[in-house]
Amino acid sequence: MITFLLLTIVITVVHSSAPSWINIGRADFNGCKSAKGFSAGQIKLCQVYTDHIEGIAAGASAGIVECKHQFRNRRWNCSTVDDSSIFGPLNSIGSKEAAFINAIMAAGVTHAIGRRCRDGQLSSCSCSRAGRPKDLHHQWIWGGCGDNLEYGYKFTQGFVDVRERERRYRRGSAEHARALMNLHNNEAGRRAVIKTSKVTCKCHGVSGSCSLITCWQQLSTFREVGDYIMDKYDGATEVKVNLRGKLQIKDPRFGLPTPNDLIYIDESPNYCVPNPVFGSLGTHGRVCNRTSQGMDGCNLLCCGRGYNTRKVSIGERCDCTFHWCCYVKCNQCYKNVDIHSCK
Ligand SMILES: *[C@@H]1O[C@H](CO)[C@@H](O)[C@H](O)[C@H]1NC(C)=O
Ligand SMILES: *[C@@H]1O[C@H](CO)[C@@H](O)[C@H](O)[C@H]1NC(C)=O
Repeated sequence: MITFLLLTIVITVVHSSAPSWINIGRADFNGCKSAKGFSAGQIKLCQVYTDHIEGIAAGASAGIVECKHQFRNRRWNCSTVDDSSIFGPLNSIGSKEAAFINAIMAAGVTHAIGRRCRDGQLSSCSCSRAGRPKDLHHQWIWGGCGDNLEYGYKFTQGFVDVRERERRYRRGSAEHARALMNLHNNEAGRRAVIKTSKVTCKCHGVSGSCSLITCWQQLSTFREVGDYIMDKYDGATEVKVNLRGKLQIKDPRFGLPTPNDLIYIDESPNYCVPNPVFGSLGTHGRVCNRTSQGMDGCNLLCCGRGYNTRKVSIGERCDCTFHWCCYVKCNQCYKNVDIHSCK
């Protein structure tokens, strides 16, 4: 009986997924105090930087959208759940996927805040004050109003990292390892925004004579940031925490990760099959591509279980003709396509 009770308790603990600060990206956010998933430090920052809240929320939701895009063809497709934990129990283990989530969220906030500074939406920052790049052509003027990457970086470092820093961990414990992992991946996400940013220039002068060129630092699109972090996800390094409380690589044959790389401490669960404890939904029912050799191919996506095929009729505009003047008239044509989905 006692064993049974213990078991139930353990399972409940694993199942419970704590609210996440990412919850701020939801529409029903109302006030810092009641913000589900905020740590004590985040509530304080939220109350001081009230005009940043919209940016943090926009950054968090951009992060979620980008995660879903990057993983659309993978076994784990960045599925979210309908509660304030956002990713459900997935975050309860320090997997590669959790590493990606941390990085893309930190990147989302860095990006959103840096852009809002430039746009004059925040009272505590404005255009970037980054120094002139050394290799910029000497006749070109440095000084357009650039995205404020430095401020976005600093603010995100404070707001996102504070939750890992305000708790004391027993050195070398599993919680300590996870906090170190999160801090590393948060940093990698912020750096991805800086790494992908570009110097952008514009011509001025009479009728495009380009007699004057001004340049500034500009954020990449968030898609480019997402692509960059996805590359890092595919090359993520497994680490463990040693007795001195420092992270070290698990397999010394691999090179040391740089601060730009993602790290993880736990193996991913098997995403082929549903596993509610780790937040895996399995790939049953996922649409796959019969001819692709990649991750979206039926072979890999369905984990060798095979697939079902159904015929669907898809309507599209066809036989379009131009009528004088000025409209285009089309017919609706239907074509039959095969849709494959995993067994
Ligand atoms: C992601 O996978 C889940 C589980 O297989 C599925 O229900 C969901 O529709 C998928 N989402 C997208 C956007 O394909
Ligand atoms: C399926 O994969 C093939 C080969 O990679 C690709 O050419 C094709 O466009 C894909 N089809 C769809 C519907 O994505």
